[in-house]
Amino acid sequence: MIKKVTVKTVQNLKNENKKISMLTAYDYSTAKYIDEAGVDMILTGDSLAMVALGYETTHFVGMEEMCIFTKAVARGVNRALVVADMPFMSYHADVCGALKNAAELIKCGADAVKIEGASEHILNVVQRCTESGIPAAGHLGFTPQSMHTLGGYNIQGKSCEAARSILEQAQNLERAGAFAVVLEMLPEESAEYITKNLQIPTISCGAGRRCSGQVIVCDDMLGKYSEFKPKFARRYGDMRSFILDCASRYNEDVKNGNFPSEEEIFTLGEDELKQLCTEV
Ligand code: KIV
Repeated sequence: MIKKVTVKTVQNLKNENKKISMLTAYDYSTAKYIDEAGVDMILTGDSLAMVALGYETTHFVGMEEMCIFTKAVARGVNRALVVADMPFMSYHADVCGALKNAAELIKCGADAVKIEGASEHILNVVQRCTESGIPAAGHLGFTPQSMHTLGGYNIQGKSCEAARSILEQAQNLERAGAFAVVLEMLPEESAEYITKNLQIPTISCGAGRRCSGQVIVCDDMLGKYSEFKPKFARRYGDMRSFILDCASRYNEDVKNGNFPSEEEIFTLGEDELKQLCTEV
């Protein structure tokens, strides 16, 4: 019997000083393999806008897409905690709408949602989600949905003052009920300072080694997304070359008549064949 990872498991890992692993996934098979590999949390990130759908930023996906991808991921997962990103503008207008959208993602099979920022409004959303039984993770530092106001892909928390301000935001999220907080693109020392002053786990996305856990985008790990590779992501494979090689060989085999082979076809029985040939 597989023991499902819950928000409690994640908190226990942090308390026991054990690292928490998290990867993004957007489809059934990938989620299934990542789950089989023992990764603790699987994030249906809105990064799917870029790596799965080819948009330039994460702004271009809404609830409709997040629901489709979350359902696919959830169908593949038995053990990991499935976290779904709340997409751009799905939680900003009012708390009621945010709660309704968070509930929708839970109904799609997510075990928790992730929300960027820590304004007064976001804290209310996190609190209402938690009170309603929807675990919510925060996301601070570089928050891709605010990249236009942040002035592009910038490292955050680079000064003592900035690190303290992010810690304050993280503590507010913790008080509001967040079960974890993703810290994106921070100097390692800033992320360590924040982690040491929180009870809930921090998950580093380009925030160094001293957070409670790590997350990267699956397509970066696989070497599948080739537009760019963030400095903090590590490529464990070269899926681009693998797909290119397979597709080129398939293309060649089709053109040369080498695909399909004898073993890859269906045939008629002798009698049916005779009938077919005589009845023309
Ligand atoms: O959308 C995403 O993939 C994320 C990350 C933290 C990797 O939010």
